[in-house]
Amino acid sequence: MDYKPGKYKVRNLKLAAEGRMKIEWAESRMPVLMALRKKYEKTKPLKGYKIAGCLHVTKETAVLIETLAAAGAKVSWSGCNPLSTQDEIAAALAKNGIEIYAWHGMNVKEFYWCIERTLDMKPNLTLDDGADLIFTVHNKYPKLAENIIGGTEETTTGVHRLRAMAADKKILYPVIAVNDAETKWDFDNVYGTGQSSIDGILRATSVLLAGKNFVVAGYGHCGKGCAERAKGLGANVIVTEVKPTAALKATLEGHTVLPMDEAAKIGDIFITATGVKDVIIKKHFAKMKDGAIVCNTGHYDCEINIPDLESVSKGKRTIRPNNEEYTLKNGRKVYLLAQGRLVNLAAAEGHPSEVMDMSFANQFMSQLRLVNLDKDGVLLDPDVYDIPEEQDQEIAGVKLQTMGFNIDKLTKEQVKYMSDYSAGT
Ligand code: ADE
Repeated sequence: MDYKPGKYKVRNLKLAAEGRMKIEWAESRMPVLMALRKKYEKTKPLKGYKIAGCLHVTKETAVLIETLAAAGAKVSWSGCNPLSTQDEIAAALAKNGIEIYAWHGMNVKEFYWCIERTLDMKPNLTLDDGADLIFTVHNKYPKLAENIIGGTEETTTGVHRLRAMAADKKILYPVIAVNDAETKWDFDNVYGTGQSSIDGILRATSVLLAGKNFVVAGYGHCGKGCAERAKGLGANVIVTEVKPTAALKATLEGHTVLPMDEAAKIGDIFITATGVKDVIIKKHFAKMKDGAIVCNTGHYDCEINIPDLESVSKGKRTIRPNNEEYTLKNGRKVYLLAQGRLVNLAAAEGHPSEVMDMSFANQFMSQLRLVNLDKDGVLLDPDVYDIPEEQDQEIAGVKLQTMGFNIDKLTKEQVKYMSDYSAGT
């Protein structure tokens, strides 16, 4: 481990050159975020502001961090999952003078130690994926909140929890729900999660998906993405749901809908994408076919009940990276991928740069918005806020341009027509 207090703690600084090449690759596929870097690196609007970040340390996140730094912010970073940090990326960031505490394979105690180190600089802003940083401020260091003008949250699970906290009037500062931007959830959650989760499953198993019964638990945006991509590769998709409208959508997309009790008996591959705990439990493992593969793509590792899996097993061994074979007491084998943590980040590289481009452009612009409000002396109440519609459309517009697509504009007459309630047949 390479450790310099107040600067970094990473696995191995010697990996920096490898990490730098990957970051350059991501930069070449993230034109929206790079345009923001170019726009703000001269004026440095974030100068004087300190941002503590807690988000998966990937090549895409590195492009975000270096864009925040280029715009003048002092940044201190930790990963938001014990298995998602890419050590070469952490090394490249440390080498470039970014304060970072992150390595792959840390335990939970180390995870919180890293978060706490990013708070040592007494940040003015927080940037989260999963809300563990915000919760650490609220639960352990509430005095720090006096210094914090606002935060941003990247993911569905984090936003749900923050909204619950705000409803109870327990949230101490304003937080922008980046996840709820259309240019985030409609792209990153669907296409990003879909592709990267399949990527993780394939890297950990190398199985053929065609003809397999592929069970997706949860048909939100992430579950939908996984289902569509598995279907595209020839799998028979089975969806389990608790929400009637979501289940209905799944059936109209041509998927089979079953309760988990039934799906457990016939599934070859299971992926959880629900955001709730105990989706696959003891009774389900007991019903699974010999050779079933089980993984999760939700933020927390509680969707698959691993203590339950341990309790019905008589042994386990790691048969390849991110793939543990459990031998059940009934003699069957069940394969757990990535220890039940996010399979797309633990077993693969997370979402492709092209979708993270829009998510992280939203992150950057939301942090900038909080700073601009602060400069203007505008105090937002402690609550959860959506990103403005104009920001969504601006990001989508720039993305389209960089992809070489042009779109039409409404004429004056069309605009008038849209609000003309006297018009009819
Ligand atoms: N979440 C999902 N994919 C990601 C990526 N590539 N980088 C950061 N966070 C992510």
